[in-house]
Amino acid sequence: MNAINRLAAAISLTCLLPLSAIAAENGTVEVTHWWTSGGEAAAVKTLREQVEKDGFTWKDNAVAGGGGAAAMTVLKTRAVAGNPPGAAQIKGPDIQEWGSLGLLTNLDDVAKANNWDALLPQKVAQIMQYDGHYVAVPVNIHRVNWLWINPQVFDKAGAKVPTTLDELFVAADKLKAAGFIPLAHGGQPWQDSTVFEDLVLSILGPLGYHKAFVELDESTLTGAKMVEVFKTLQRLGTYMDANRAGRDWNIAAAEVINGKAGMQIMGDWAKSEWTAAGKVAGKDYQCVAFPGTQGSFAYNIDSLAMFKLKNDNDIKAQNDLAKVALEPQFQTVFNQNKGSLPVRQDMDMSQFDACTQKSKVDFEDAEKGDGLQPSMAHNMATTLAVQGAIFDVVTNFFNDPKADPATAVKQLNSAIKSAK
Ligand code: GAL
Repeated sequence: MNAINRLAAAISLTCLLPLSAIAAENGTVEVTHWWTSGGEAAAVKTLREQVEKDGFTWKDNAVAGGGGAAAMTVLKTRAVAGNPPGAAQIKGPDIQEWGSLGLLTNLDDVAKANNWDALLPQKVAQIMQYDGHYVAVPVNIHRVNWLWINPQVFDKAGAKVPTTLDELFVAADKLKAAGFIPLAHGGQPWQDSTVFEDLVLSILGPLGYHKAFVELDESTLTGAKMVEVFKTLQRLGTYMDANRAGRDWNIAAAEVINGKAGMQIMGDWAKSEWTAAGKVAGKDYQCVAFPGTQGSFAYNIDSLAMFKLKNDNDIKAQNDLAKVALEPQFQTVFNQNKGSLPVRQDMDMSQFDACTQKSKVDFEDAEKGDGLQPSMAHNMATTLAVQGAIFDVVTNFFNDPKADPATAVKQLNSAIKSAK
């Protein structure tokens, strides 16, 4: 057999091999995440497809459960068993905790080759590093303090889009009187605390928010304004569906999309559900800053932290995932589906809808002053231990319509103290 024939035979043999066998030889990257709603699954599929196109195998470790508490439990169990995935969605200060355990791998070579220092906002780049080295790659910037509105429902009820908390209650009364659920909500701790943090941002302002959730300042946590936050939370609860316990956020989003409810207080991953339902931002639905938080931007950056692996081919797959995550094409398609802002600074925003364009403008405005604040409910502001303590107090309070706001404030402070 001459050289050309040998080559042809080799090529045809390769063609007979199933794609998965070739990919396995090229390495596998297992990814732990919690993007399981219809819209979010569509977003994560774009990442998977790109990694597969590059010849690697994607092993999906999706763990259902918004906010990621269930995924984090799975991750911890696997890490303890010495079997962590190649990549996992880990965010904010938690990246430091995993880094300090010595389990995360150094991504500096990928970062250097792909110019991450120039592409990422400095604040974001810092969060992705442990001990001065990149250990995680960001994929997006979500804004948490949004209110999602169905304008048809508002029209039918004669309600106006609210810009203050007082106006929010006026609109909620109109919606209620017209027979709609004013506020769609899922009674899960992270969703309760998403509403809670929006209220803190609205009532205490961005600096008060920072003192409460980043500095964990005792006088802020126990102050009169914090009592007002709990009072307002209790009042908001009376406009939510009584059957909300345990409901997933995307089911709540569907109630607004289907015209059963008028509003949802949720981060902009909610937009992934509107997009998946074929609805157009600014026409079929409206996104406005949560009343009283105009000028502030509670950020939530999704990022994939990478674990140390032994197999060289799997390391190649892991590096490919890290590289792909910041490529412009992926940043566009993923974020169009996910509802978030691209994390790259140099993107053409005309490819995004009205809500994401507004988010970009609001991000830049907030960045100029004190408005840019890390989301407590989405793991960006504190350790998971402190966050868990806050979740417990807020959800216990929210589930008891007779609970006393002044007592809740004291409980909040002591729970945080013992979790620190
Ligand atoms: C957040 C996460 C978002 C979205 C949301 C709902 O913590 O950052 O990407 O998945 O939870 O599950």
